[in-house]
Amino acid sequence: MNKEGIIIAVDGFSACGKSTLAKQLALALGYTYIDTGAMYRAVTYFFLREQLDWNDEKSVQEALTSIQIDFRREEDGSLHTYLNGEDVEKYIRTMEVSESVSPVATISAVRRFLVKQQQALGEKKSCILDGRDIGTIVFPKAGLKIFLTADPEERARRRLKELLEKGQSVSLAEVAKNLTERDHIDSTREDSPLRQAEDAVIIDNTVLSPEEQLAMIKTLAEMRGA
Ligand code: CDP
Repeated sequence: MNKEGIIIAVDGFSACGKSTLAKQLALALGYTYIDTGAMYRAVTYFFLREQLDWNDEKSVQEALTSIQIDFRREEDGSLHTYLNGEDVEKYIRTMEVSESVSPVATISAVRRFLVKQQQALGEKKSCILDGRDIGTIVFPKAGLKIFLTADPEERARRRLKELLEKGQSVSLAEVAKNLTERDHIDSTREDSPLRQAEDAVIIDNTVLSPEEQLAMIKTLAEMRGA
């Protein structure tokens, strides 16, 4: 068995359960979980808070030099995203950030900035990263690549439930519209569009429970040396 472990890439559409899977799998395998979407969300939150014009290349370049993102485990075991030392977990999951994150994620300077950090974080292997370009751009040689999909209506229902549980007031129609828009922007952007890597295993989890999904992918991961 490879003592170093492998890199597991989980890509797919918005709200199709990538982070649920990645978190559970990380726990089951003793791996590190890296939520790359949270990194794009943290940059977007920073730009919104600073009222930055992200169409201006110079402003973006300058802003990126003052952004530091890291993940810290809280007492309850959950992983929170920190921006310049501040816990921004609850701010980055709002609809306001969800509505701007895909446009921000089209900016090549932002992608280069974050991809470099993701590659450094994954260097030590035994790592699961979820996102849109992990199997294609960030770790094209990942030991296991999963491409998750689920029925769009089911995805909207799942995300609505999550947001309501967090106390946000939002409707199913708003959530569905945001997911459709993000999927469109993410799949059609020029730099690192959301694509299924040729060697990815596609899993449609519309009718799979999180437990069934986990069992299936854990077996796959172990077969690949995890
Ligand atoms: O959890 P959800 O599916 O809502 O999205 P996320 O993983 O938090 O990602 C938020 C957004 O960040 C995506 O819609 C993409 O625009 C962008 N993203 C990206 O471009 N590349 C990644 N590797 C991860 C996220």
